[in-house]
Amino acid sequence: MAIKDFTENGKNCQETKIDKITLINVIFGAIFTVLEFAFKYFKLLLLILIVFIVIYVLYKSYCSPVFYSKELSDVGFDHLPKGKDRSFHVIRAQKSRRFGSKLPPPYPNGWFSLVESRDLKVGGVVAVNALGLNLCVYRGEDGTARVVDAYCPHLGANLAVGGNVYGNCIECPFHLWKFGENGQCVSIPDTNTVPKGISIKTHPSMEIDGSVWIWYDAEGRPPLWTVDESNETKNWGYRGRNEFYVNAHIQEIPENGADVAHLNAVHSASLLTDVGHKYQFLKNIIGHHNWSAEWSKGEADHLAQIKIAHQYIIMKYDVFPIDVTAHQIGPAHVRLYFSCPLGPMIIIQSVTPVTPLLQKVVHRVYTPNYNAILGAALVIMEAYQFTRDVAIWNNKRYVSSPAYVKSDKNIRAFRTWFSQFYSETSLSMRDAMQSPYDW
Ligand code: FES
Ligand SMILES: [Fe+2]
Repeated sequence: MAIKDFTENGKNCQETKIDKITLINVIFGAIFTVLEFAFKYFKLLLLILIVFIVIYVLYKSYCSPVFYSKELSDVGFDHLPKGKDRSFHVIRAQKSRRFGSKLPPPYPNGWFSLVESRDLKVGGVVAVNALGLNLCVYRGEDGTARVVDAYCPHLGANLAVGGNVYGNCIECPFHLWKFGENGQCVSIPDTNTVPKGISIKTHPSMEIDGSVWIWYDAEGRPPLWTVDESNETKNWGYRGRNEFYVNAHIQEIPENGADVAHLNAVHSASLLTDVGHKYQFLKNIIGHHNWSAEWSKGEADHLAQIKIAHQYIIMKYDVFPIDVTAHQIGPAHVRLYFSCPLGPMIIIQSVTPVTPLLQKVVHRVYTPNYNAILGAALVIMEAYQFTRDVAIWNNKRYVSSPAYVKSDKNIRAFRTWFSQFYSETSLSMRDAMQSPYDW
């Protein structure tokens, strides 16, 4: 019996060996056939590849806007250990961070983007928590976007979670009360006459530059300025957006435009590779960005302007000059006008305080049709540059009295300008942090 088993096992071993050899022969045979085919039809295959790439680029540029996003823990934590405990290290770094003292109020007065227009269809309802508010944004059948407080005055249900739009009214999901355009309750089931004085708070809103904006004012004043839709966003094509969550005070983000010195410190390394940054002797071959900028106050109080000149230098030659004019409109809205040899482009930046020290930053890119490919590329290129700022913001603290040097003169001017958006009853950072929720 033992001899029989041995013989059978030996046979099995032999069969397995033959199977492996056959398999290897088949694999090598297939590889050689593919290589032979590739060499024989090299030009044809190359052509097919190029056609596919061109179709893909055209499709992404014209038909499928680019979307690039980074989560809060994605940027600025490369220095922490990798591995299975990484999330623990990130949380520890975030918790032990000191945000600085004398931080300005977290919610300046101004217009803030809540929802992108494309995410709010007619009859659509979106819940937004921002600026210390719980909001319901909906679009009535007249196409107008409206912003109301989320909680129903009856028993407090959240209108944005399960609520429905009827005409231009929003209906509460709990007992189906309806609230009209001005926030007044207009209908209660099984009740013929709606008692007077029942209403939900409405907020001033506008829809421009691809987004629905709310007017936030600590003093309860009506909007101190309005903004017209830009011609560019009206007439050009949308090429995509990038989106970031940044752990910093809102003021730090627009201050970046006035911080001229950081431009060549942070944004000089080539987007193509960081190698040139690490090995200086390669800098001239790979190329690097060169920036100069000037920040100034605008004609109206709530406006400011930054003029930026960009060069991409390879061997002392500027191979890609770009002029950028950034129009800062209030605390949280920027239009960046790009002008380069391949045509114009615009980026709309919005900054929304989700919590006192958490900002949602979105950049939307628009270009004329002939310039769509560059526009799609700009979504990514700008995101790469912005990521470098986010890595700093996610780890820095706010310094209320910096050690200013001459090149920081714009920062001082910027802070004075920005202080107009804080008012007497602006919620202090301390109060906002101590009671983020109304328990
Ligand atoms: S809670 Fe909204 S209708 Fe009752
Ligand atoms: Fe920057």
